[in-house]
Amino acid sequence: MTDWQKSDWRAKPRVQMPDYPDPAALAAVEARLRQYPPLVFAGEARRLKSQLGAASRGEAFLLQGGDCAEAFDQFSADAIRDTFKVMLQMAMVLTYGAKVPVVKVGRMAGQFAKPRSAPTEVIEGVELPSYRGDIINELAFTPEARIPNPEKMLQAYTQAAATLNLLRAFSTGGYADVHQVHAWTLGFTESEKAAKYRDMANHISDALDFMKAAGIDSDSAHTLRTVDFYTSHEGLLLEYEEALCRLDSTSGKWLAGSGHMLWIGDRTRQPEGAHVEFLRGVLNPIGLKCGPSMTSEDLKRLLATLNPRNDAGRLTLIARFGAGKVAENLPRLIRTVQAEGASVLWVCDPMHGNTIKSASGYKTRPFESVLREVRDFFAIHKSEGTIPGGVHFEMTGQDVTECTGGMRALSDENLSARYHTACDPRLNASQSLELAFLVAEELSVLRLDRQQAEAV
Ligand code: PEP
Ligand code: CO
Repeated sequence: MTDWQKSDWRAKPRVQMPDYPDPAALAAVEARLRQYPPLVFAGEARRLKSQLGAASRGEAFLLQGGDCAEAFDQFSADAIRDTFKVMLQMAMVLTYGAKVPVVKVGRMAGQFAKPRSAPTEVIEGVELPSYRGDIINELAFTPEARIPNPEKMLQAYTQAAATLNLLRAFSTGGYADVHQVHAWTLGFTESEKAAKYRDMANHISDALDFMKAAGIDSDSAHTLRTVDFYTSHEGLLLEYEEALCRLDSTSGKWLAGSGHMLWIGDRTRQPEGAHVEFLRGVLNPIGLKCGPSMTSEDLKRLLATLNPRNDAGRLTLIARFGAGKVAENLPRLIRTVQAEGASVLWVCDPMHGNTIKSASGYKTRPFESVLREVRDFFAIHKSEGTIPGGVHFEMTGQDVTECTGGMRALSDENLSARYHTACDPRLNASQSLELAFLVAEELSVLRLDRQQAEAV
């Protein structure tokens, strides 16, 4: 793209970004990051884009999930493994229901910067700048901790690189081998959904045994023994993103080298703003969060700016309206997309419109609301004749108590037991699996409907 430079965003109005008090320190960090290797390769981003294109046609399905905010003090191999494992389980459940490939994208290895609803936070009469994610400042409620420190970008880069390294090892080193489908259940043995999962795993094992006996296994050995796993995060901290931008020699285009897919948040999607300006120029597949305040006019402009050539897989619209608000918002935006003839992938984020403050004071999300938003998303796509192509969750493999409800009926009073998130409440492993079964059910109904329509 010749009419775009990676630093052009600097001339545009910016929101949700820190003012670093020491410009020299910031410049030094940017200079270092510019020398570091990118974390992802352009060919990978292109492959993901083509898989997302397949999802937009109903030939694949996107599962995007992970932390609201990755945190430096929760960085561990076990945490990465557990989230990866739950995503594999969910993907298996979805593949089994939908009978299409599931594209797996983690909110991992770079999901550090957070937009906030208010610039400051008041606790017991003391007002301090808000916490904006570990890549910017610290959660501790002291004036020093809340000062934006550019050095944190280097630590975030290191953590992202190590996380991605482990994810790549798991993906291709044997852990993700489909023959391990039973081993992934360990640790979630108690719920009814775990039994349902084991049942499905038995069917899959049977099919694998059959394939082996029939001599089919060896041909597809690579496909069965490895997975493609991609990374994504909100493209929020543009100094970091610009510094990791690299020219791809194959295409002559710019790659955002910090992750495979970047999205624009609901608070930073101003059509003339800095975030849209930066992301319009990179070759990666990108996401755009669409909340209730998204107007059809803005969406039209964003479709034209972010995907001017109307490439399949380039743009994922992540609907996040809140339970009860899908019906008044999704149809009008679907119709805008249709009227423009725009190619997009529609994905449901049932998390961000459903955050409430519990009676016990914790930020939480009722599992019932999450389920309801997913169901409404599918129902509306059905009535509009469009394709529900994926889901986007905040979740963790850890047994946290952050969202209420679910099979184990977590209550307000239970929230304090293991409330570990640095930002928004996440689904725990058991709730994630439960949700995957619900989505799989919706997908298998859709598949049967389609088969029937084809048979007529
Ligand atoms: C998020 O995905 O963590 C987020 C802040 O979402 P949204 O921009 O949709 O509020
Ligand atoms: Co969040």
